[in-house]
Amino acid sequence: MPLRRRLLLLVALVLAACLLVASVLTYWAGLRKIDLEMSSAIEVGDSAVMEAMASIDSSTDPAAHVRRTIASFNGDRHLVARLIGPDGEVVDVSQLKPPADPPPAWLFDLLGRHSYSRTFPLPGASKNLGQLRIDADPHNEVSEVWEDLKLKLLIVTAFCAVVLSLIYAILGRALRPLEDLSAALHRIGQGDYTAKVSETGPQDLQDIYRAFNRMADELNASEQQNHRLNEQLSTVLEEERSEIARDLHDEIGPFLFAVDVDAQSIPSHLSRDAKDAVSDRAKAIRQNVQHMQLHLRSILSRLRPALLIDQGLDHAVENLIAFWRTRRPGITFNSQVTNERFPANIEETAFRILQEGTSNAVRHGKPSTITLTARISSPRTLEVTVSDDGTGLSATSNRGFGLIGMRERIAILGGKLNVVTSNDAQGVTLIAELPLPEKSKQTRNSYLATSAA
Ligand SMILES: Nc1ncnc2c1ncn2[C@@H]1O[C@H](COP(=O)(O)OP(=O)(O)O)[C@@H](O)[C@H]1O
Ligand SMILES: [Mg+2]
Repeated sequence: MPLRRRLLLLVALVLAACLLVASVLTYWAGLRKIDLEMSSAIEVGDSAVMEAMASIDSSTDPAAHVRRTIASFNGDRHLVARLIGPDGEVVDVSQLKPPADPPPAWLFDLLGRHSYSRTFPLPGASKNLGQLRIDADPHNEVSEVWEDLKLKLLIVTAFCAVVLSLIYAILGRALRPLEDLSAALHRIGQGDYTAKVSETGPQDLQDIYRAFNRMADELNASEQQNHRLNEQLSTVLEEERSEIARDLHDEIGPFLFAVDVDAQSIPSHLSRDAKDAVSDRAKAIRQNVQHMQLHLRSILSRLRPALLIDQGLDHAVENLIAFWRTRRPGITFNSQVTNERFPANIEETAFRILQEGTSNAVRHGKPSTITLTARISSPRTLEVTVSDDGTGLSATSNRGFGLIGMRERIAILGGKLNVVTSNDAQGVTLIAELPLPEKSKQTRNSYLATSAA
């Protein structure tokens, strides 16, 4: 059940309980009032009858005197006087004033149960007429309580209606922000992290809205980061694929063709018994195969850098430089890389920075020299740098994924990246600082052993 309806129901139940208590109190008050009124009516009737009885003996016609006494009660609101004959039959009775608004039978049953009466035996000569009895009749009194009750019920019903409508309206206003929040949560649930709620309203809710908006921002940021990483991944994959395809085509293809040609020529040399020519061809085939093996190794090391790093960061950097030297013989590569071992994730991040930094320098900077370093700069930091003397970053430089990806990898390790550049052809220097864990002097194998334990 919606919160609004629940709260309304609760309020309605509380009001109904109040109404019940008020009804019980009204009932008791009604009973008391009727009891008081009836008792005092009997007392009044008592003194009126006593007064009439006192003068009955001096009366010439006692029967007429008794009739007059009974008639004097005609039109009374509470008392009915009766002459009860010697045989117990009612000989004469006065007329009660009928109630203007007769009460319903159930109310009369509830309130008018008690009977109040008093009997007066007739004195002296009139003794044989029987006895006089007065009864207090609660009809008029119950009717008064009934009228009172109707008015009270009307007022209470109007009050409840007003209170409930006010609460309904106030709840509607008060819960609207929660409805907004729920709608925003729904959007977040459907992956729309741009959902926001307005940070207005009561202080306690404002705190919730602020927390919600912060959460949405964080989700949005990590969604975008994921998006970027995915794009970066596919760009890198695409670049690597096309580079490998080019390598296979340019470096392996011609040699395979040469091997094929050499191998085809061998039978004709053999038929001519030209042993020297056969031996030359075989040598040429071996040279071509060696060349292809070299290139295959470089392609494989690009495909599986982890394998490369397995032999150390220094070894991996040598391979990286060898890869670029064959492709960019005009560039001078320098390197100074520590031969210490670090945890696998740090070595891989360090290698990726050196790889992407070198690739950026070669592709974008037109440098003549590129220098790669990796050293322990303070006891707990591995400092990795790539610097070139190329054109440097310019204001129009693209916002590519390489630098962003680098920053994200470094951030995951709790490190930082500094890109130093000027646009006056001083090149670019990337300085990455990767914090090292306590046991940075351990060997890589002992890292693996510790982490496995
Ligand atoms: N060493 C560099 N020399 C000159 N420009 C660079 C260098 N490194 C990066 N840039 C510029 O910064 C941009 C962003 O680099 P990066 O994030 O690696 O993306 P990408 O290499 O995919 O373009 C490059 O497009 C290039 O314009
Ligand atoms: Mg790049």
